[in-house]
Amino acid sequence: MSGSIVILISGSGSNLQAIIDAVDAGEITGHISAVISNRPEAFGLERAKNVGIHTEVIDHTGYKSREIFDLNLIRKIDEFEPDLVILAGFMRILTPDFVRRYSGKLINIHPSLLPKYQGLHTHKRAIEAGDSEHGASVHFVTEELDGGPVFMQASVPVLSGDTPEALAQRVLIQEHKIFPIAVKWFMQGRVQLQNGTPHLDGVSLEGNIPRLTL
Ligand code: GRF
Repeated sequence: MSGSIVILISGSGSNLQAIIDAVDAGEITGHISAVISNRPEAFGLERAKNVGIHTEVIDHTGYKSREIFDLNLIRKIDEFEPDLVILAGFMRILTPDFVRRYSGKLINIHPSLLPKYQGLHTHKRAIEAGDSEHGASVHFVTEELDGGPVFMQASVPVLSGDTPEALAQRVLIQEHKIFPIAVKWFMQGRVQLQNGTPHLDGVSLEGNIPRLTL
């Protein structure tokens, strides 16, 4: 049986593309039922349309409050009866009601080695802190922004003279590797959130998160 995946985006959608490619290659069991953007101009919408994936725009600027926007988003997502909802560069803070509705089946990719650098400007912050490594994390989404349990990471070295842009590019390449693997594992039922802790093949990942190292 092939599960339903809904992907939320706001921008370029390069992570979306990596997931589309992995589905096309048969690496991920499941189908992308819809790509939903809160921004009409998001390039990721073109990526989805190019391969015949259903797209929707729910422009947040047309809603009076975060709550009403999220309610409409939930209504639309639920039309596709998703087994997994993916945030792939979806630049919105979600309400607790939204997060609770998809608890255990809502995942995000964040460009830092969480718990370091929740929020924005992660690459700049890593450089300014003098970190020797930086990276990206895939995590289950909880009510704490970028605070949910991580189940896969990738790291890259921070090079001397690195700019935030150069570092972001190298991290992004790793994001495109780990996000499809994370989705694959989830759709296979290998990764699950159990009592707030991610498990891989039934074994807790607490303190032992799989990490791809460059
Ligand atoms: C990525 O850096 C991701 O980690 C962050 O937003 C960016 C999205 O890029 N959440 P793209 O739209 O997938 O190209």
